[in-house]
Amino acid sequence: MDQIVRLADAKQVPPCTVVIFGASGDLAMRKLIPALYSLDACGERMLADETMIVGCARRPMAVEQFRQHARDAIGRFSSAPIQQPCWERFAARLDYLAGIEDLESFARLKARLEQIESASALPPNRIFYLAIPPDAILDWVERLHGAGLIAPPQGPGFSRVVVEKPIGVDLRSAMAINAGLHRYLDESQIFRIDHYLGKETVRNFMVLRFGNSIFEQVWNNHHIDHVQITVAEQEGVGTRAGYYDHAGALRDMVQNHIFQLLSLIAMEPPVSLAADDVREAKLNVLRAIKPLTPDEARTQVVRAQYAAGQVDGHPLPGYLQEPGVAPHSATETYVALKVFVNNWRWSGVPFYLRTGKALARRASSVAIHFKHLPAILFAEHHPLPANILTLRIQPDEGFSLSVMGKRPGLDLAIGPVDMDLQYRREFDARSPEAYEMLLYEVMVGDQTLFVQAEMVERSWRFIQSILDVWQRDGRTGMLSYPAGSWGPPEATGMLAAHRCGWLEP
Ligand SMILES: NC(=O)c1ccc[n+]([C@@H]2O[C@H](COP(=O)([O-])OP(=O)(O)OC[C@H]3O[C@@H](n4cnc5c(N)ncnc54)[C@H](OP(=O)(O)O)[C@@H]3O)[C@@H](O)[C@H]2O)c1
Repeated sequence: MDQIVRLADAKQVPPCTVVIFGASGDLAMRKLIPALYSLDACGERMLADETMIVGCARRPMAVEQFRQHARDAIGRFSSAPIQQPCWERFAARLDYLAGIEDLESFARLKARLEQIESASALPPNRIFYLAIPPDAILDWVERLHGAGLIAPPQGPGFSRVVVEKPIGVDLRSAMAINAGLHRYLDESQIFRIDHYLGKETVRNFMVLRFGNSIFEQVWNNHHIDHVQITVAEQEGVGTRAGYYDHAGALRDMVQNHIFQLLSLIAMEPPVSLAADDVREAKLNVLRAIKPLTPDEARTQVVRAQYAAGQVDGHPLPGYLQEPGVAPHSATETYVALKVFVNNWRWSGVPFYLRTGKALARRASSVAIHFKHLPAILFAEHHPLPANILTLRIQPDEGFSLSVMGKRPGLDLAIGPVDMDLQYRREFDARSPEAYEMLLYEVMVGDQTLFVQAEMVERSWRFIQSILDVWQRDGRTGMLSYPAGSWGPPEATGMLAAHRCGWLEP
C-alpha cells in the first residue's frame, strides 16, 4: 500500500504579472529569474500560460538585452537546465521597462500592465518584487500607491508586494518600515522574505515534529536538555564589507534566519495549517523571549571577529585587514548567545545560537540534545553521551538521531550510533530551491512561509537589547578567533554546564 499521504496537491497558480524592481541586480539575476525559469520549466510547469515577468530598473536596457542577461543567469544559477523549447516559452514572458524611478514612469508601468492584462483578458493579478536596496523600499511603495497600483483589491485580482531582508537595521527602523508599508498596504498584501523558510528541510521541521508520535511526546523541558542552532559560513566578508561592516552577524543572521528556525523548533502545535495559525504559533515563541538585561547581554552573548587564518586550505586576512572594513571596526563576524523561551514547555531549557563567517565549514543545523540518563546501569562508571536529534539544513540536507548501541564483541562497549536520513539518498525527486518555493507561494497567495510585521519587531526588540549594550561598550568584550576555526573558545565555555560542547557539523 502506498503510504504517502498527500495532504495537498501543488496549488493551481493563477496567471499573474510579476514585476521585479531592481531587475538588473544581483538578487534578480542570481535567484529570482532562475527560480521563475525552474517553476516554468520543471516537471509540473507551474507558471500559467498568460503569466508575464516585467523587469524594471532605472538603467536603460533593451528587452532583448534583458533576455540575454536572463538566459546567462539561468545557465549559471538555475537548478533546471536550459532547454530550447522551455527557454523560448520563458523568454516570451520576459519584458523590461527602463527608467522606472519617478511617479511619471510608474504611470508608464501601469499602462504597460494594463496592456498585458487586456491582451490576455486577465484580471489585474500583480506581484511587485522589491529587489532594490532597503532604503529605496518605502519610496517605491509610495510611488506604486501614487500610480494606483497597490490599492487593496475591491474586485477581482490582487496586488502583492514582496519585501526582502533586511527589514531595518534596528528596532526603530524596522518599525518605521512596517509603518511605512502599512500606510499603503494591508498586511495580507505584504510578503516579507526570509529565504530560510523556503528551504525544503526547514519546511520539514513541522512534519518531523507533528507528523511523528515519537518526537512531540518528548519535545519539552522534561526531556530536552538544551538546543543548539548553528548557521556557519566559510567565506569571509569578501567584497561585501560596505554592507557587512554596518550589519554584523547578529543583525545579518540571528534577527532573521536563526530566530525563524528557533520559532519553528519551539512553537506549540498550531490549531491548523492555515497561514495565520502557523504564524501565530511561531510568533508566540518570540513573545516568550524576553529582551536581555545589560548584565545578561554581557554574560550570555559572545561576540568575536576573525583573525588571519586558513579556510579550507586558503589563507584569509583578519577581518580588520579586509578591504572596506573600518580599521577599528566593532562589527562582530561571530556571535554565540544563550536564549530562553519563557513558557510552560521550555522553561529552563537554554537555546544556544551561533553564527559566524570564516568558520571551519559551511553548515546550518539544529541539534536537540536530550537529557542525560540517571547514572545507573550503563552510565554508572562513565556518563553516556546524551541522545541528539540533528536537523541538517545545509549542506547534506537530512536528519539524524544519535542513539546508544552496543558495539559487537564479547565485552560490553557502548557508544553512539547515528540513525541517518539523507534527503538526496532517500528521495530522487528534485527539491525546489528556496526562491522557487517562495515565489510559488506568493503567486498562490499563501503567507505561511513569510514573516509578519510583529514577528520582525519582536525579534528586533530582543536584538536591540544586545545592540544597545554593544553600542555603549565599543570594542570592549570583542574576542577573536582564527579564520577556519569554529570560533572563540569562550563560546564553548557557554556550554560547560551541559557536559558537552557545540556539536561540530
Ligand atoms: N543579492 C542577494 O543575494 C540578496 C540576498 C538577500 C537579500 N537581498 C536584498 O535584496 C535587495 C536587492 O539586492 P541586490 O543584491 O540585488 O542589490 P543590488 O544588486 O545592489 O541592486 C539591485 C538593483 O536595484 C537598483 N537600485 C540601486 N540603487 C537603487 C535605488 N536607490 N533606488 C532604486 N533602485 C536602485 C539597481 O538597478 P538600477 O540602477 O538599474 O535601477 C540594481 O541593479 C536588497 O534589499 C538586498 O538587501 C539580496
